[in-house]
Amino acid sequence: MHLEPLHDDLGATVSGITLSGDLTETEVESIRSIIDQYSVVHFPGQEMTDDKQLALTRLFGEPEAEHVAFGSTGTVNYFGTVGNVKDDGSTADNTNARYQSGNQLWHSDSSFRETPSYLSILHAYEVPEQGGDTEFASMRSGYARLGANMRRTIDPLFVIHDYVFSRSPIAPVNPNHAASLPPVVHPIVRTNPSNQQKNLYIGSHARSIVGMNGMESRKILDDLLEHTTKHTHVTRHAWRPGDTVIWDNRCVLHRGTGYDATRWRRRLRQTRVVGNEAGIIPCVPS
Ligand SMILES: [Fe+2]
Repeated sequence: MHLEPLHDDLGATVSGITLSGDLTETEVESIRSIIDQYSVVHFPGQEMTDDKQLALTRLFGEPEAEHVAFGSTGTVNYFGTVGNVKDDGSTADNTNARYQSGNQLWHSDSSFRETPSYLSILHAYEVPEQGGDTEFASMRSGYARLGANMRRTIDPLFVIHDYVFSRSPIAPVNPNHAASLPPVVHPIVRTNPSNQQKNLYIGSHARSIVGMNGMESRKILDDLLEHTTKHTHVTRHAWRPGDTVIWDNRCVLHRGTGYDATRWRRRLRQTRVVGNEAGIIPCVPS
């Protein structure tokens, strides 16, 4: 494997390895350790299929059931399609595009679940000629840049994450789906158990801070988001067909940059790994 870092805060491009379910244990551990260190890892030129992607996903832990189908109908589906191309190859209607616009807000995948995602694995099949990039920001670097007083203030806090809250300005959520995702509480600072690095855990699903009034907690959450996602601290991935990107939802926020869905086709397939195995532990305030 050859590794090239992408940004001081996060990100690496890794070549010289073919991703599939046939990776050796040593290769999986190497990739896991690269993810621990770089948070976002780009593997260009992969010849992926859904079967290969699911087998790859299982090497890193338990695949996560996609929450829309699971919450709405109870169907377990391990893939989400990102973009505007439906399974039959036609392009989706505006409702789907509107729903997916929620992905243009900074977020950590499944932070609204009791057990959030550990990894997201996204593979690009069709990409627009313009737009449709994905941006990433390191919540570990963002935490490290906070002053000591601010770190002491926020270390013991807990945040309510709520999917219906984050989607309410965008599109209505199916009632069954909404009922399947009651608000959950996560610590605002988490620690990677492999390297003991602390990071913020916020994003668009973060509704409020436990024990604070709405205005007070909104200001802290908004200020932290602004602080951590300044453009100099963001790395932007311009997708090419064949790219597989794996990112660490425990310590990274990401967002789509948008594209003209009436003009371009965009099709990426996503799987996720449930966070309980290599999960995150709450920060113990010192
Ligand atoms: Fe996402």
